[in-house]
Amino acid sequence: MKRRVAILISGRGSNMAALIQAAMAADFPAEIALVISNRADAAGLGKARASGITTLVIESKPFGGDRAAFEALLQSALDEHRIDLICLAGFMRLFTAEFVQRWYGKMLNIHPSLLPSFPGLDPQAQALKAGVRISGATVHFVIAQTDAGPILMQGAVPVCSDDTPQTLAARILQIEHRIYPDALRLLASDKVHLDGDMCRLEGGDSGDALISPAVSPKGT
Ligand code: GRF
Repeated sequence: MKRRVAILISGRGSNMAALIQAAMAADFPAEIALVISNRADAAGLGKARASGITTLVIESKPFGGDRAAFEALLQSALDEHRIDLICLAGFMRLFTAEFVQRWYGKMLNIHPSLLPSFPGLDPQAQALKAGVRISGATVHFVIAQTDAGPILMQGAVPVCSDDTPQTLAARILQIEHRIYPDALRLLASDKVHLDGDMCRLEGGDSGDALISPAVSPKGT
């Protein structure tokens, strides 16, 4: 039985589109059953609909700081669609500890840095400011702390001396679109086990959880 996945978005939805594309493969262990946006103007909604995916808008703004009330609505939609796993893909809304606990081990996020470096906003600008030579993206399980939690998969890219936050973001985005589907495949195939703060892969670390730069910086 394929795992039923909900993708939560707030914006353009390019990671969402990569997940939808990957899940079209017959042997993919998960199906994208639902896309939910907390913003009616999210560009990703149109992309999801064009792929034939059911979409829902649950506006978070009217709830203001009442995160629990927003999450009650979200949870009932997830229940109604019998969702097993959640992928956050550019979803710009924090959750309560209760919601995070309810979905612990079943909710992934992607962040455009090699966590634990550069959590929070503008991670690409943070990376450039720190002068790192390598950056990338991380798929991790969601915990109460923002941009933290057991790391499932990472992909690295070179940082170029003439990079701007925009050029680095574009390079990282390419690797995001590779690691998110791969990470979901691992999770939905039951090959991932949480061991405290650590994420262990069945069969040990065979390199499945890492993509390192394979091309020269200029070529990416
Ligand atoms: C991505 O860079 C993702 O890592 C971050 O937000 C951005 C969303 O982009 N969490 P998209 O909506 O998937 O194109």
